[in-house]
Amino acid sequence: MPVLSLIRERFAREQPLKGIRISACLHVTTETANLAITLKAGGADVVLCASNPLSTQDDVAAALLVNEGIPTYAIKGEDEQTYYKHIRAALDHAPHMTMDDGCDLVSSLHKERPELIPNVIAGLEETTTGVIRLRSMEANGVLRFPVLAVNESDTKHLFDNRYGTGQSALDAIMRTTNVLLAGRNFVVIGYGWCGKGVAARAKGMGSNVIVTEVDPVRAIEAVMDGFRVMPLAEAAPLGDIFLTVTGDLNAIDRPHLERIKNGALIANAGHFNDEINIPALEQLATGGRRTVRDFVDEYTYADGRKVFLLADGRLVNLSAADGHPASVMDMSFANQALGAEYMLQHAKELTPRVYTIPRDLDREIARLKLHAMGIQIDTLTPEQEQYLAAWESGT
Ligand SMILES: NC(=O)c1ccc[n+]([C@@H]2O[C@H](COP(=O)([O-])OP(=O)(O)OC[C@H]3O[C@@H](n4cnc5c(N)ncnc54)[C@H](O)[C@@H]3O)[C@@H](O)[C@H]2O)c1
Repeated sequence: MPVLSLIRERFAREQPLKGIRISACLHVTTETANLAITLKAGGADVVLCASNPLSTQDDVAAALLVNEGIPTYAIKGEDEQTYYKHIRAALDHAPHMTMDDGCDLVSSLHKERPELIPNVIAGLEETTTGVIRLRSMEANGVLRFPVLAVNESDTKHLFDNRYGTGQSALDAIMRTTNVLLAGRNFVVIGYGWCGKGVAARAKGMGSNVIVTEVDPVRAIEAVMDGFRVMPLAEAAPLGDIFLTVTGDLNAIDRPHLERIKNGALIANAGHFNDEINIPALEQLATGGRRTVRDFVDEYTYADGRKVFLLADGRLVNLSAADGHPASVMDMSFANQALGAEYMLQHAKELTPRVYTIPRDLDREIARLKLHAMGIQIDTLTPEQEQYLAAWESGT
């Protein structure tokens, strides 16, 4: 993670986060460990808890505590009670700053520990679903401190959501099932940043990709990218593999599950495990449920059809594989580190709203990434700069 390393070196010298207590609720992976170490190098007092019960890499959690002295509350496979106990433990740190992936930390802070809010200078949010929840808090007048929506940076969603999820979600499906993607009907539910990445990669592996959407613009985009687009009710009996990436509730609902093809694989790469109506699947599976491989559960319907649910419907790339590769998380977490510094520097001007990272900082991260990749690009000449800033010249 060369960009984050450069930031870490500067942070170690300049100590921009000195004395700042940070409670971070993120997927506990090797990449997150690098972020936590970077924040600590910048002078912060960091604690970490998991942002999903299944995404923790236990060796990373242990190493963070033992080797880096960063308290980490996370166990892979923890139940919901333990998950929230860990969030409460991270809040006991009385943070000046929160760092979230999905908004569970900020929402618990507002609901359960409001007495801690006056300490909080700012928060940062990693993912689309968390940003949606924060915007809802802002609109309802509930949000009580400024939060930076890291997801909205170009150097985050254009790469992490698209290329990261695109690759790691397919990796997880292949690792858990060893299914051949070539020749299969692969149904991508939701054609946002994640969905575009998944669809392009599934096509590259030889799948016949079907996209389902509710947004007309994104649906046209999918059509013009060369995919078949249809309602999910029509795709249900056609698909061999179904992947939800919507951030929406019951994207695969009971009527779809009723029509689904025998042998279908169903997975989710959206933030929460509510994109597939699992209670409905359980009701339909009167023939029972059994685990056939790690992270693969077989549900048998009354008529003998079998449907396979991956990773309990939790985000499959982090639950059943390693999540995004480090080289893409490098840019996401550069946004978190520089965003933390930015929010502290500008704390006095900020009000309890959802902010995005300034465009200059976003471009600076891209510039550093290109530099790390050894790729050079052209720069505008003074003449071109002047031309692009002017309105006078025409035909
Ligand atoms: N697995 C990961 O590592 C990872 C990484 C980044 C984001 N995410 C999560 O993935 C989800 C999607 O993120 P994104 O950035 O692609 O969001 P996005 O807003 O760009 O795209 C979501 C798309 O889903 C569509 N949609 C909503 N409800 C639908 C429905 N019922 N049927 C079909 N389409 C529907 C929307 O119209 C939209 O186009 C979010 O929950 C986000 O937090 C996961």
